[in-house]
Amino acid sequence: MKNVTCIEDLRNIARCKVPRAFFDYVEAGSYSQETLRANRVDLEQVKLRQRVMVDVSSRDTATTMVGETVSLPLGLGPVAMTGLERGNGEILACRAAHAAGIPFTMSTLSICSIEDLAAAVDKPFWFQLYVMKDRGFVRSLIERAAAAKCSALVLTVDLQVLGQRHVDIKNGLSVPPALKIKNLINMMTKPGWVFSVLSGKRWTFGNLDGHVKGMGNVKSLAQWVGSQFDETLNWKDVEWVRSIWPGKLIIKGILDVEDARVAAKTGATALVVSNHGGRQLDGAASSISMLPKVVDAVGSEIEVLFDGGIRTGQDVLRALALGARGCLIGRAYIFGLGAGGEAGVAKAIDIIRKELEVSMALTGVNRVDEIGRHVLLR
Ligand code: GLV
Repeated sequence: MKNVTCIEDLRNIARCKVPRAFFDYVEAGSYSQETLRANRVDLEQVKLRQRVMVDVSSRDTATTMVGETVSLPLGLGPVAMTGLERGNGEILACRAAHAAGIPFTMSTLSICSIEDLAAAVDKPFWFQLYVMKDRGFVRSLIERAAAAKCSALVLTVDLQVLGQRHVDIKNGLSVPPALKIKNLINMMTKPGWVFSVLSGKRWTFGNLDGHVKGMGNVKSLAQWVGSQFDETLNWKDVEWVRSIWPGKLIIKGILDVEDARVAAKTGATALVVSNHGGRQLDGAASSISMLPKVVDAVGSEIEVLFDGGIRTGQDVLRALALGARGCLIGRAYIFGLGAGGEAGVAKAIDIIRKELEVSMALTGVNRVDEIGRHVLLR
């Protein structure tokens, strides 16, 4: 890890260490990947203002996100199947996040269960919720998150149906990993991964195992999402979730001003401007292009978080300058996890922290609350 200086380095190592189906799953966008690419291209087009001769010796990246003190405006977002990028991946990533003083979000579709993770870490984590057809089960998931003392519920609202990712079909992605010749050959070239996943606690969706029918071997994620996820999901369901979960609620997957206005009236603590990392509606606008519009519409009513293409501390600075309170990363930390487990995730966070610190200095700011649109060239 000594020669790792950027997230791209972690990605290159992860690509060698993680079996193709799981690496590709994380990396892919949906369909032609237009929105996936737009997330990065548009971020790079947001130009920072170089400022000089400002005393920047008292820099501090600490702030709050949904009222929680964080050492930098960054959280680990929910990623399905993290425990198949590396055995016990959710536990390793959560430990790295907590050690760095930032939040970790566990996905409903994680490999460890809520209870596994709660037993393995000593600080509260956030829990991401997918609303499935079986509302009794959804209620029990929320209750399990409350019993595990999760400090926020992240309700994903942009995945009632799954945007197709071509590689997942081509790779025959399945959970637990399908032991087909093609996959076995690929896995044999990744002995570290085989060892870590075999010594992991579980190989299938830990939160659903034993609760949801047809979980034994999920042949195709798309098929399974199609059978379990609820296409009828609508804003009334948010009221229902609220009635069961009185704690902090974060609505994730808002990309439209009209939707943001509705989300702001739900009593949620925050919303996340997100297009699911370019994995859902292909052809949708980039996340960063919608951020200032959402902030202008509802920023005074609800905290606005951001995800979509963050790979550097400069990207975090851009999103904050456009009004985000904090950012979530997915791929950037999963690459760290695949590359080096807990230390790899810690490295990913550290890279982004240092880039943010330096970029704050070179734009002439000392504190996160001094970051605003004046930091951008317009
Ligand atoms: C699930 O959240 C996915 O994007 O695959």
